[in-house]
Amino acid sequence: MALESTTEGASLHWGSRLTFILAATGSAVGLGNIWKFPYMAGANGGGAFVLMYLVFVAILGAPMLMNETMVGRAMRRSPVGAMHKLTKQYKISSFWHSIAWLGSIGGVMVMAFYSVVAGWSLDYIIKTASGLFNGQNAEFVGGVFGDELANPVNMLFWHFMFTALTVAIVAGGVVKGLERSLRFLMPVLFVLLLLMVGYSLATGDVQAGLSFLFTFKPEDLSWAAVLSALGQAVFTLSLGCVSMMVYGSYMAPGQALGRTAVAVALLDTAVALLAGIAIFPIVFAHGIEPGAGPGLVFVSLPLAFAQMPGGQFIGTLFFVLIAAAAVSSSISLIEPAVARLVERHSLSRSKATMAVGGAAWVLGVGCVLSFNVWSGFTVAGKNFFDILDYLTANISMPLGCMLIALLIGWVLPKQFSREQLSDLSPAGYSVWLCITRYIVPIGVAVIFFFN
Ligand code: PHE
Ligand code: NA
Repeated sequence: MALESTTEGASLHWGSRLTFILAATGSAVGLGNIWKFPYMAGANGGGAFVLMYLVFVAILGAPMLMNETMVGRAMRRSPVGAMHKLTKQYKISSFWHSIAWLGSIGGVMVMAFYSVVAGWSLDYIIKTASGLFNGQNAEFVGGVFGDELANPVNMLFWHFMFTALTVAIVAGGVVKGLERSLRFLMPVLFVLLLLMVGYSLATGDVQAGLSFLFTFKPEDLSWAAVLSALGQAVFTLSLGCVSMMVYGSYMAPGQALGRTAVAVALLDTAVALLAGIAIFPIVFAHGIEPGAGPGLVFVSLPLAFAQMPGGQFIGTLFFVLIAAAAVSSSISLIEPAVARLVERHSLSRSKATMAVGGAAWVLGVGCVLSFNVWSGFTVAGKNFFDILDYLTANISMPLGCMLIALLIGWVLPKQFSREQLSDLSPAGYSVWLCITRYIVPIGVAVIFFFN
């Protein structure tokens, strides 16, 4: 087995650098790219948001990935255990434990709404395979999504199925077989996305779609949109939920961290951009409202499948891959909390997983109901689903990134990071240090302040 629970000793780790890249990419690439990125870009007016997101990923992405991973790798414990060990070893305040708590709990909160969306994808596998969408128009496809949201029983079923699937995989010792399946799934997802991009460029409103995504209009740039772009950058790279920390704890000491982080950030960004290019020309060609909200992808893609030759088959495969990408992310969302329960409370792995999965499931039920039975309950126009999304992506996750940057950049001795980042040249290390010390904390603080 490539990966074992951290309690079972420091000698167990991912088989190779490639396995870590695959696992980290599996965590990063998910609904954040294919569902959330287009929906956020649409809701925040397009180009200005996309540019800010790209700037954040380019400047902060790789360094923040390194920061989380190095703590896990150096301590070889669950994130909470790692922070305990770290604060003891360096005789620093136990305040820093909050990074791990914030992240582990944040992961469970993300899991709650993530499994609802992943449940839609499971349902859409069946819907697409049945030929429901064949030859249909925008109105019909939009109606199907409306019915999806209006039916809590059906949504609860698929939400439960996805949660159970994640629990089953995590209970089995996380990732026996993850390597093999990802090695195969990621390239197929990539190829299918390219195919969709080709179709969208051939048949969609390319001019309108691409100019929406890539035309920078500074007047669209509110502080709220900047915070959402930061939140999206952090969310899509799986940062701030200590997922990369827990995966780092399974990483062998000698592996190059710097290059690995850059590779993960690049792959993740490529998938998000391809998804955007696949979706927006179709959105504009069919008069779909870009700011339609969380259903954007579930309306625009089926519409493309409805009309393209072989769409029933390609669409089915596509939703299978979205669900698979979602599972490889969701396991990293609950793994930090599970690893802690196993380590500290000597619960069996399956009991721990069921406890954490159960907590996420309960919150997820609230998300399901927020689209129908409880839709009247909103705070500042946000339902329960939106609130969980906002609290994590826009608050707890950027905060976690800021705290960990302060910890590594200022509190721990330089020698700690220099050893961990041994593959960086002196210049590369200085760049990392400057970003970690100044740009991350100041950037996050400024953006929080103006919100
Ligand atoms: N990065 C994942 C995605 O884009 C979501 C995620 C966030 C996973 C935080 C783990 C931790 O879908
Ligand atoms: Na992502």
